[in-house]
Amino acid sequence: MDRKLDELLYALMQNMMITVSGEKLARDLAVSHSTLVRWVEKLREAGIEIRGELFTGYRLVRLPDVLLPQLLRPRLNTRFLGRSLYHFYDVDSTNLFANRLLSHQHKVPEGTIILAEFQTAGRGRLGRSWYSEREAGIYFTMILFPKTPPSLVPLFTLATAVAMHNAVERYTGLDVDIKWPNDLLIGRKKFCGILSEIQAEVDLVKTMIIGVGVNANQEHLPQDIQHRATSLRIESGRIQSRLEILLEFFEEFETIYMDFERKGPAGIVDQWTRFSSFANGRKIEIHDGVRRLSGVTRGLNPLGALRVERQTGVVEEVYSGDVVAWE
Ligand code: BTN
Repeated sequence: MDRKLDELLYALMQNMMITVSGEKLARDLAVSHSTLVRWVEKLREAGIEIRGELFTGYRLVRLPDVLLPQLLRPRLNTRFLGRSLYHFYDVDSTNLFANRLLSHQHKVPEGTIILAEFQTAGRGRLGRSWYSEREAGIYFTMILFPKTPPSLVPLFTLATAVAMHNAVERYTGLDVDIKWPNDLLIGRKKFCGILSEIQAEVDLVKTMIIGVGVNANQEHLPQDIQHRATSLRIESGRIQSRLEILLEFFEEFETIYMDFERKGPAGIVDQWTRFSSFANGRKIEIHDGVRRLSGVTRGLNPLGALRVERQTGVVEEVYSGDVVAWE
């Protein structure tokens, strides 16, 4: 966790365009001169433009778009989500870090969020990797302890998709679609993916981690994914505030999550069905890891499985997989 780097960056941000003496920074942060020099170097390596050196003082050249806890915390309107927050400039994967935290730390508060500016080993569904350009995307993981049987787990990923759908539509004004189970699209291109992992006993979930990756401000995407991926910036033609989108998402998700615990899953299934053009009457082909299955979609069952009507008229319920083709 990069808490010290966050403190240094926050101190520089509060003195935007002003040169702050290295002496004073080191004193305020209670570190030696050599440590300060090292931290400034680390921030520079993370792409933050800082002019000057220890004896001339340091100055931020432009306001960086960094998801600093110092900026997020005062604006959080949630009860538990994000109240415990880890922020990294570099991490292998926020999901991997969440798993390490759960196995090494005795008490992890529910709603803990791990945020990263850059992932060296971002992970996607079905063993794929997740492209994580520095500061351009939103990469985070939520740690949850829902009191629920494992059979209801897919509903939490659907809930995450619904919450991000609502947050992005509200903040950007873009038209967002949800491809089953939980890819967010604009037009036919994906800009957000969700990766959930659980530890469970036979009848009870012990821990759930939900990782979310949003392509927010990428100007270009790598050539091999350009035909199927996009970013909010590409679609809207302007830079989007990652911070505002995150804040909207946290509030949305917490409300849906608490409603789920109080009233059950019907609300999630209902919202997902309203927001996804894939819910009903869509000709699709799904790959579930073993077989390819094609048919027409006929809504979700109460557990979040997709009902697919085959050519024979039989309706199958699919719990996981990838929609590989659609009309
Ligand atoms: C998908 O394949 O659609 C899921 C992508 C999930 C990516 C996010 S980025 C933050 C979190 N950490 C990871 O390593 N993966 C998820």
